[in-house]
Amino acid sequence: MSSYQVRKTPGDTAWFRAARFGMFIHWGLYALPARHEWVKNYEKTPEEEYDRYFRYFDPDLYDAREWARMAKAAGMKYAVFTTKHHEGFCMFDSQYTDYKCTNTPAGRDLVREYVDAFRAEGLRVGFYYSLIDWHHPQFPIDVIHPRRDDPDAFEQNQGRDMKVYAQYMRDQVRELLTNYGKIDILWFDWSYPDQHGGPGKEWMRGKGRNEWESDKLIALARELQPGIIIDNRADMEQDLWTPEQYQVSSWVRHKETGELVTWEACQTFSGSWGYHRDESTWKSPEMLIRMLVNTVSCGGNLLMNVGPTARGEFDSRAQNALKVFEKWMHFNSRSIYNCTMAEPDILPSLPPDCRFTQSEDGKRLYIHLFAYPFGHLLLKGMAGRVAYAQFLHDGSEIRMTEGKVDHFSEGAAKGDDLLVLNLPVVKPDMLVPVIELFLK
Ligand code: GLC
Repeated sequence: MSSYQVRKTPGDTAWFRAARFGMFIHWGLYALPARHEWVKNYEKTPEEEYDRYFRYFDPDLYDAREWARMAKAAGMKYAVFTTKHHEGFCMFDSQYTDYKCTNTPAGRDLVREYVDAFRAEGLRVGFYYSLIDWHHPQFPIDVIHPRRDDPDAFEQNQGRDMKVYAQYMRDQVRELLTNYGKIDILWFDWSYPDQHGGPGKEWMRGKGRNEWESDKLIALARELQPGIIIDNRADMEQDLWTPEQYQVSSWVRHKETGELVTWEACQTFSGSWGYHRDESTWKSPEMLIRMLVNTVSCGGNLLMNVGPTARGEFDSRAQNALKVFEKWMHFNSRSIYNCTMAEPDILPSLPPDCRFTQSEDGKRLYIHLFAYPFGHLLLKGMAGRVAYAQFLHDGSEIRMTEGKVDHFSEGAAKGDDLLVLNLPVVKPDMLVPVIELFLK
């Protein structure tokens, strides 16, 4: 068994850590402008102008079953879907607003279709819910609000009542966690209690747990869905730590206690969460696989984002990126599911340009080759510890020797505790080849 103790939290995180790989879905009205889900903030778009997206939102090609099949094929075990993003538009049939998909040409409850389809494929289901709301008339204007630079922003802000908005969120979370069956993850986004508008604009205060009334919101969620996993972004520590758009190099720890925590990296295929037609920093296939591997090698999950188009499809770039995972996971998922950071006594053996993962039961060690070495892989400290070695993708034996590479070995290529794996000269046809070691 893995010797790592992970900090205990109220949610049921065991399935989550075993799953390791999920799909984030950012879908909303911002798919129409197709230039970032923050477009309303970036362009300070007036309400009347943004309304055009509401009038023309018609995702006629949306087939949630197709999405679910693609997620599953890519090896993803769960998904998190934006039920409402910062723009405030609801992708579900809420009784507390008219600003919802059922009132657009879409005319259907898009969340319902997502839930049904993903569950039918055997995937766990999560909801993203934005705490920030750039449409709700009671949401006080602040530094990231689209109206922040209006000359009459101060006047517009008068009479806005955060308490009314906080109640609105509770009402909607109640709907989301009551009307759609079992929900596995609730992903609140996000808090900025310390930000304000600077000199003269101090009244543009950021928002955190006091404004959101996070304690009530979370208590409600836990009452409605015991066991649900909740992230930390409501400015209250819960089950899930969420490093965004960067790769960690060691297991994320609790700030005060130093304990290991349950964490999930979220990443995009390109530089935007929502569908972005003209953004072109799409990650290479190799980088995608490395991000997944690196994440699991540090004991975390990867939540990989797709931004569907306004018509309700994953565009060809997104589909190709998913296929990269599909192809690699077909052969190598054993080094991902139910795997975690290698044991502390094994970690020092890590060869250059590699990542380890180890099965939760401790019996198998996986070496991921980020750069393919010539001829031999040297594992210092591993002599006598491995019963059998093979490539994971084809189950072909990797012959082992101990003590030295050969008669001419010198320096690091020699030593009583040295395990030598003899590799073919030609790199197997695998973006990141994986070696599976059966430990004694
Ligand atoms: C950020 C962004 C948001 C995105 C999220 C995903 O908080 O505000 O657009 O949804 O990250 O993690």
